[in-house]
Formats: sequence, C-alpha cells, structure tokens
Amino acid sequence: MLTDLKMPVMDGMQLLRAMHERESAPAVVVLTGYGTIESAVEAMKLGAADYLIKDARPQEILLTIERVLRLDALRRENAQLRRAVRKLHGFGELIGDSAAMHEVYRVVGAVSQNKSTVLVSGESGTGKELVARTIHGRGPLAGGPFIAINCAGLSETLLDSQLFGHRRGAFTGAVADHDGVFRAAEGGTLFLDEVSEIPLGLQAKFLRALQDREVTPLGSSRPIAVDVRLIAATNRDLEGEMRAGRFRSDLFYRLNVVHIALPPLRARGDDVGLLIDHFIQHFSREYQVAPKRVTAEAMARLRGYGWPGNIRELQNAIERAFALSGADTITLADLPPLRDDAVPASMVAADAAAARTLREEEERVIAAALRESGGNKNEAARLLGIDRQRLYRKIKKYGLA
Ligand SMILES: Nc1ncnc2c1ncn2[C@@H]1O[C@H](COP(=O)(O)OP(=O)(O)OP(=O)(O)O)[C@@H](O)[C@H]1O
Ligand SMILES: [Mg+2]
Repeated sequence: MLTDLKMPVMDGMQLLRAMHERESAPAVVVLTGYGTIESAVEAMKLGAADYLIKDARPQEILLTIERVLRLDALRRENAQLRRAVRKLHGFGELIGDSAAMHEVYRVVGAVSQNKSTVLVSGESGTGKELVARTIHGRGPLAGGPFIAINCAGLSETLLDSQLFGHRRGAFTGAVADHDGVFRAAEGGTLFLDEVSEIPLGLQAKFLRALQDREVTPLGSSRPIAVDVRLIAATNRDLEGEMRAGRFRSDLFYRLNVVHIALPPLRARGDDVGLLIDHFIQHFSREYQVAPKRVTAEAMARLRGYGWPGNIRELQNAIERAFALSGADTITLADLPPLRDDAVPASMVAADAAAARTLREEEERVIAAALRESGGNKNEAARLLGIDRQRLYRKIKKYGLA
C-alpha cells in the first residue's frame, strides 16, 4: 500500500496503527513531502516498510516497491516457518505437546512401521480416527486403501455382509455379489469404529477372519484370503465389556495387541492453546479470512472449559466463531454456550474436593460448639441452632464422642 500522511478523516499514522493490528496487513510505503521526513521516519517506527519523497522519479518508486515486496515475501515465509515449527509440537496432523500425547506419538511412530493390529480407545472426539489415519499414512500400507466402517447401529446380518461380503441371493435384498470392507481394504488398512458394538454372534466369525486372515462371504462356503492391517476403535471400556460378558475375551486379546489410549482434552494441559491456534489457522484458510485474535476473556473461557466433546467440540466452537462473525476478533459473544452438561471427571473431582471441605467445616463447627459448652450437648445444640437428635447423629457421624 502506498499512503499519504496528511489526509482528511484518518491520517496516515492512524491508518498505520489500525493496520498494524492485522496479521495479514499489506506492506506499507509512506509518501511524504520534503518538509515532513521526520514524520515519515516516525511512520516507519509504526511498521511502515519504507518512505518515498513525493517527487521521486518513477524508477526510484519502482525500486522501492520491488524491495519492499521482496522483504514482505520473506516476512510471510518466516510466518509460515513459524507455523511449521508449531507443527513440530505434534506428529503429522496430530497437534499437541503434552506428555500424554508424546507417549501417543511414540507408539504411533512405532506401530506404523509394521502391520500389527492396533486398538485405539478414547472418549468421543479425542482423535481416534485421526490416529488411525496417521498410522496408516506412515506405514508400509500407505499406498493402499484406508477403509473405515462403523460397527454401531447395524443389524447382525447387515454388519456381517458389510464386513465379509455376500453372494447374490444370500438374503432378501442381496441382488448382487458384494465384497465387504475386509476385501475392499485389501493391501491397506481397515478401520473398525465402535468395535464394542459387534453383536456377540458375529464376534466369532470376526475372530476367525483375524486369525486365519481370510473371510467367507454370506451365502458362500469358499473362504477368500485377505491382507489388511486392522485398527479398531472404541469409546467404551472394552475390557469392562469383556468382563461383563458382552465381548469375547479371545477377540479382545486379538485386538489388544497394541493399545493406544487417547487422553481426554481436559487432561492435556496447554494443548488446548495449541489446538485453538491450530484451528484458527485452519479455518482462516478455509473461510479465506485473516486469522482471528481471541480476547482475553474468551481465551479464559476456552481454557477453563472441560470439553466433554473433546477436540471435535473445540474445533466446532472455533468454526462457529468464523461462520457467525465477520469481525477479526473472537469475543465471549462468539462462543457457543459452553456448559458442562456431561460433567467431566476433572469437575467431578473438584466437586468431591468441595464436598470434603464442607464436611470438614461441619465437623469443625460442631467440635467448637461442644468445647464452648464444656461438653453439654443441650447447650451445644442450642449454640448450633439444631435439635438434640440431630446433634447426636452428627456427633456419631464424626466420631466426636
Ligand atoms: N491431536 C489432534 N490434533 C489436531 N486435530 C485433531 C487431533 N485429534 C483430533 N483432531 C480433530 O478432531 C476431530 C475429531 O477427531 P476424530 O474424528 O479422529 O475423533 P474420534 O475419537 O474418532 O471421535 P468419535 O469417537 O466421536 O468418532 C477431527 O476433525 C480431527 O481432525
Ligand atoms: Mg470417530
């Protein structure tokens, strides 16, 4: 941008200050008369890239602009590198620098080198599918397909046919042969989401497929060999499902060769800040607007929240701010109502601590009243404003006798 300094309404200095706050501001060259070179220098302190005297020759103007553009390109490249460095606080597309996530990266890095079966567990929105894709993308089967299937909500027959395929006429509605996802994932990775939801009846067939590395389509008696890496995901405690008799133990141990337990976001400390940054960059590209800043209050709200829906909920909150507001700052008003309806464990723990101190407080007050009354329970009850029966119960409860 080429700008004059003396202008009506808003002068060049004010303009510079306003532009300075934007991350995607253009480079600015200030035009100035001979008499006001000091103010041009002042403008450079405010972030102008250079200044030009008003009667400069065209050649001189072109050279200045070229130089400033070169510098600006370097500045942008530098910003890009900084973003790349930030990515180093993660692993591929996985963002996060917390100890818990570094442990995840270590295991993801190791298992991606081979074809072993992996079980990924974690609450909803913690990144189970992203972890599965990362393992696939870095492994020997990266050139092959990545096929995802959700095992929840399908009838046993339908899931059977989705997994292992069927021959035409195997059941009503089977009008043509169907391969099933095991064969679709041949030479690649099969991602079985919500694996705990596979009906018991089908679990035996699934186990055989895993053990023998072959599948038998519904309505066929000829098994077909398959070469796939299996990654299973669950947001339930699969071991608990096994103990409750809802999940076969032999299948559990087959799947649980390598277990990656994804931490909930509330246990990932400063990762919340990194992820906020990450999603702001992400959505500023997607919505083609400058990266938004976040006000201090909005940041405090985002950091203080328990995120029961984990990273997906955080991602949605940031996208909402881009979708609903054109302003370049995210304020409290741009955030969805962040209520901890599904009270996260961290808050349960805080409640328990509060309850404990309340009990301690009660015990302390009752003991004080008893001391005050010299052990006279009628007097103590009167001091406390409760009846004798109630005091007796409390004395017993706290073992104050
Ligand atoms: N560590 C991470 N860094 C950056 N983005 C992440 C990370 N983990 C998850 N995401 C993003 O959060 C969203 C939810 O992740 P994903 O779908 O993998 O979660 P999930 O555990 O499979 O959830 P659900 O149990 O609901 O299926 C995706 O958009 C994903 O790209
Ligand atoms: Mg998922």
